[in-house]
Amino acid sequence: MRTILISGANRGIGLNIAYKELKEGNRISVGIRDLESLKGSIIDPDKWPERRILINKYDALKKKSADNWIKNTVNEFGGFDSIINCSGVLSKVPFLYKDGDEEEILNTLNINFLAIWNLCRLSWEHLCASGRGRIIVLVSMSGKRSKGDLAAYSSSKFALMGLCQTMRNKGWGKNIRISAICPSWVNTEMSKNISSLDKSKMTQPEDIAEICSTILKLPMQSVPFEISLNCNYEI
Ligand SMILES: NC(=O)c1ccc[n+]([C@@H]2O[C@H](COP(=O)([O-])OP(=O)(O)OC[C@H]3O[C@@H](n4cnc5c(N)ncnc54)[C@H](OP(=O)(O)O)[C@@H]3O)[C@@H](O)[C@H]2O)c1
Repeated sequence: MRTILISGANRGIGLNIAYKELKEGNRISVGIRDLESLKGSIIDPDKWPERRILINKYDALKKKSADNWIKNTVNEFGGFDSIINCSGVLSKVPFLYKDGDEEEILNTLNINFLAIWNLCRLSWEHLCASGRGRIIVLVSMSGKRSKGDLAAYSSSKFALMGLCQTMRNKGWGKNIRISAICPSWVNTEMSKNISSLDKSKMTQPEDIAEICSTILKLPMQSVPFEISLNCNYEI
C-alpha cells in the first residue's frame, strides 16, 4: 500500500488520479483549496469508510499550507512515500505582455513552479525515510517545447521540468524516483475553450490516472523519468 499526497485533487486530472489510487487500495492525502468541493464527488470520504482519505486545506500561494498538509499527513498516516502534483493554472499571457500583466506571470510561476518546489522540498525527508519515494509531476508538452505564444505558462513549465531533472539527480541515491508527465491537451476544465480539437480526441484524465498507477507499481529500476503524450500529430 502506498500513502500519496495529491494536489489539485478536487477536479480534472488530480481527481481522476485520486479516485484510481483509492480504488487500488492506497491511502491518499489530498491538498485542495475548497474543502467543500469534494462533497458528493467520487472521492467524497463518506463513500470511502475505511479512512484511507485525508483532506487538507492547501493553497499553492500560501507556503504555510504545504507545511500543515505534510504535518497532518504524518500525524494521520505516520508518513508518506509518494507525491503527485496536479495543481496548476493556464495563463495566456504572451511574450509581448502589457504593463500590469506581471502579476499574472508571477502568479503562474508561483503556482506551477515554486509551490511544487516548496512542497517537494518540505516532503523530502519523509520520501527518503520511506525508502521507496516517488514524485510524479504534471508538467506539460509546454515544458518541452513552446508552441504558439503562451509565454507565461510555457516558462513556468520549462522551469518545472528543470526542477524535475534536478530532483532526479538528488533523489537517485535516496531511492526516490521522479516522473514528469508531459501531455498536450487533456480533456478537463483547463482545455474547455480549445475549439480546434474535439474533446473526445484529447487525452482523457482517466488515461493519466492509469499512467500514474503504473508508475507507482513499477520497481525502482524501471520508473520512467519522462512521459510525453501527444493527442494529436505535431511537426
Ligand atoms: N488539461 C490539459 O490540457 C493539461 C495539459 C498538460 C498539462 N496539464 C497540467 O496538468 C495539471 C492538472 O491540470 P487539469 O487539466 O486537471 O486542470 P484543472 O481541471 O483546471 O484543475 C486544476 C487544479 O489545480 C488547482 N489549483 C489551481 N490553483 C491552485 C492554487 N493556488 N492552490 C492549490 N490548487 C490550485 C485547482 O483547484 P481549484 O478547483 O481550487 O481551482 C484544480 O484542482 C496542471 O498542472 C496542468 O498545467 C494540463
